[in-house]
Amino acid sequence: MTGQLETAPSIRRLSPPSNVGAELAADTRQGLIGTPKQLSSKYFYDARGSELFEDITRLPEYYLTRAEAEILTLYADEMMDAIKPVELVELGSGYSVKTRLLLEALRRAGTGTLYVPFDISEAAIRDAAETLSGHYPWLTIEGLVGDFPSDLPKIPHSGRRLVTFLGSTIGNFRSQERVEFYRSVGAVLEPADGLLVGLDLVKDVETLLAAYNDSAGVTAEFNKNILHVLNRELGANFPVDEFEYVVKWVAASECVAMGLRATRAMDVTVADLDLTIHLAKGEEIHDEVSCKFRYDVVVAEASAAGLSVGGWWTDTEDRFAVALLQPKPVSRQRPWKLHRPRQ
Ligand code: SAH
Ligand code: AVI
Repeated sequence: MTGQLETAPSIRRLSPPSNVGAELAADTRQGLIGTPKQLSSKYFYDARGSELFEDITRLPEYYLTRAEAEILTLYADEMMDAIKPVELVELGSGYSVKTRLLLEALRRAGTGTLYVPFDISEAAIRDAAETLSGHYPWLTIEGLVGDFPSDLPKIPHSGRRLVTFLGSTIGNFRSQERVEFYRSVGAVLEPADGLLVGLDLVKDVETLLAAYNDSAGVTAEFNKNILHVLNRELGANFPVDEFEYVVKWVAASECVAMGLRATRAMDVTVADLDLTIHLAKGEEIHDEVSCKFRYDVVVAEASAAGLSVGGWWTDTEDRFAVALLQPKPVSRQRPWKLHRPRQ
């Protein structure tokens, strides 16, 4: 495009690496001395973990990314029209692949030119910022490396804001954490701002379990990556190949639950924590949930956090939804409300 100069993207860390390391150490200690043993999936995403997630998005069984991309292709213009954002802030942006559909709609809307990708993975933010700045010379990119929800208040606010949280990453939180998350995002929204959330919908268990137990074994490798992270970052000696990946559907909470099972009894030392733990043969370490959604649950959780559902768009097969949450009651009938669920 003529007359436009490409601006180099800026990348900023919101917390010093020492704080990040201290949090990993504290969470790991607490998770491994408790029963059942548990680890947080936010530690999956070192450079290798982020790449493995990208591989997952292309698996035939993992329909989520394709379904969400279809929604954004069909409705991104309506989403922009609902908020008319000056800035797009993306939480858990990863490699910002589907984001292009929103950025192109932002360009068409002509309301703003600032994109703020925010992710715990510095490798992903750097890669995304470089790629996007080459594609979109009109865009100003201010990447932030941080941890949500604690770092959210540190994101600078430059004008009407559309926050996006795609990929159903909200499903990696349990119900109470989701409400707290919505409340934390609500606290950084002005009345005319909005939060777009990608939500994988409840469907038949076979389809759901296949999405998290692919035949190529990529999801198992992704999940086991957390043990490589602990071996490297905390001097642990987990024998990664002696764990098997386990995945179950938990009907009560409508979540897929994932973890790693020790295939033999073992003692594991975490040198930097001065900690040795014992795992019995068959003992599991829980490390991820991926909860699935229904419209009513989304309305109730958003409302408990002081947000209302002002838009609801689904793909043509009703597998996935993108909801627009707003910090004020929806007072007028708006065209995008037409996309409420067909029930
Ligand atoms: N939005 C992308 C990526 C989803 S993967 C998509 O839809 O495809 C989840 C992303 O959230 C990863 O990039 C991961 O690094 C990031 N993430 C996970 N926990 C996080 C946390 N606590 N703070 C910030 N980013 C986090
Ligand atoms: C990032 N998050 C929404 C993915 C999910 O579907 O829960 C992570 C993932 N875990 C296993 N496969 C994909």
